[in-house]
Amino acid sequence: MSPDQFPSPDTLRADIGDAAWVDVMQAVDRTYAELVDYQEQLETRNAELEALRTFLSSIMHSISDYLVVTDTADCIADASRSFCKAVGLPVEKLVGQPIAGFLSGTSSADLMTAISRTMAQRAEKTAEAELSTTIGPEPVEFRVSPRLRAGRKRAGVILTGRPLGELRRAYSELETSHEELKQAQTQLVRNEKLASLGRLLAGVAHELNNPISFVYANTHALEKYINRFETYFDRVQSGASRDELVTLRADLKLDRDLRNLRTAINGARDGAERVKNIVEDLRRLSAEGSGELRPTDLVQTARISADWVERGSKSHVKITFSGAEQCIAHARGGHIQQVLMNLIQNAVDAMSGQDDATLDIATRYEDTRAIIEVTDNGPGIPDSAKAKIFDPFFTTKEVGQGTGLGLSISHKIADEHGGALELVPTDSGTCFRLTLNRGDQT
Ligand SMILES: Nc1ncnc2c1ncn2[C@@H]1O[C@H](COP(=O)(O)OP(=O)(O)OP(=O)(O)O)[C@@H](O)[C@H]1O
Ligand SMILES: [Mg+2]
Repeated sequence: MSPDQFPSPDTLRADIGDAAWVDVMQAVDRTYAELVDYQEQLETRNAELEALRTFLSSIMHSISDYLVVTDTADCIADASRSFCKAVGLPVEKLVGQPIAGFLSGTSSADLMTAISRTMAQRAEKTAEAELSTTIGPEPVEFRVSPRLRAGRKRAGVILTGRPLGELRRAYSELETSHEELKQAQTQLVRNEKLASLGRLLAGVAHELNNPISFVYANTHALEKYINRFETYFDRVQSGASRDELVTLRADLKLDRDLRNLRTAINGARDGAERVKNIVEDLRRLSAEGSGELRPTDLVQTARISADWVERGSKSHVKITFSGAEQCIAHARGGHIQQVLMNLIQNAVDAMSGQDDATLDIATRYEDTRAIIEVTDNGPGIPDSAKAKIFDPFFTTKEVGQGTGLGLSISHKIADEHGGALELVPTDSGTCFRLTLNRGDQT
């Protein structure tokens, strides 16, 4: 309708009357007010949209991972600054370009499959692909999430990617540090082993030194005696008179030498035997356990062991036995006696000079195990020594009183029996527990 076809207000007023005219004017006012209201709402929405756009663009700018939004045709709709930087193009040039154009290598097909699956199944997928960046192909792990419109309609996908090169570099750095740590640890263990070996050798040297110097001193004395006897016998052979020989015998103190000769020989033999014992102990320490395992009564073996220890000890210790009359283990009797003698001897030594020194030997069965516990009410073992008592040559005894091999040999013997020797935690005193296989059931 052209403007000259519109009826004039006067004509309208004439046509529809004054009352109707008022209605029309009111309707126009209402519409105008609605329009103003609508305009205000639009401005508010616009401001909100602008804020959202700034917010989204700040995310796109600052996110360090790659973020790419695609449409249903797999073309880029938006991309984060990190992605633009990687491919060397501003976002305006990327929009509308197929994502496939920025991928290289065979694995890129995997990402395209993941994108189509994500769109079809509306479920997240992960795929690795090579991104063609300004510095060459870069492996990236992409997480593909569906991008949906209202009504769950497909709009494309959102790709978030993290350069694997960085991760791999971090991982390889971690691996290198781990390797270095492992080497340092091995070195530490090696040093510790060398130190233990050093301690062991120092212990052996120290232990052997005593009896060897004993043997040496005695042979030195024997040499002196021989020189004097030779002088005497030379005079006998050259026909010296009886009186002369009597005087010479007295001068050379041959009677005293004769007495000392026996002591020197005994001394040398004792020293040699001590060396032999130490060597045997060492051999036992390194040798595999041998000999047949038989049913062995731990109670009887403990009684014999206690007798032997008591016989050789000056201090008085009250020894009690508790538990069954018999406790049969599957064991080598001689070896177990050695263990028990050492445990009892240790307890007696620890309690020397103690008035109420008491030692309890208790035996019991526990399922398939035969157990014997040796408990004393002595001073106990200090915490600092607890970790070392089973080490060879660890001793707190005076030189010549103990080699420090007793517990380490006993531990080895228990191991060879498929059993265990352990220090049992106690409030006071000391308790050692020897666990062996039961020997009355086979
Ligand atoms: N019942 C105990 N009470 C206190 N300390 C003990 C007891 N048993 C062992 N120990 C400590 O453990 C150390 C090591 O004992 P182990 O039997 O191995 O060697 P040793 O008795 O010193 O020498 P060896 O047995 O070779 O003659 C002892 O020197 C002592 O310090
Ligand atoms: Mg001992």
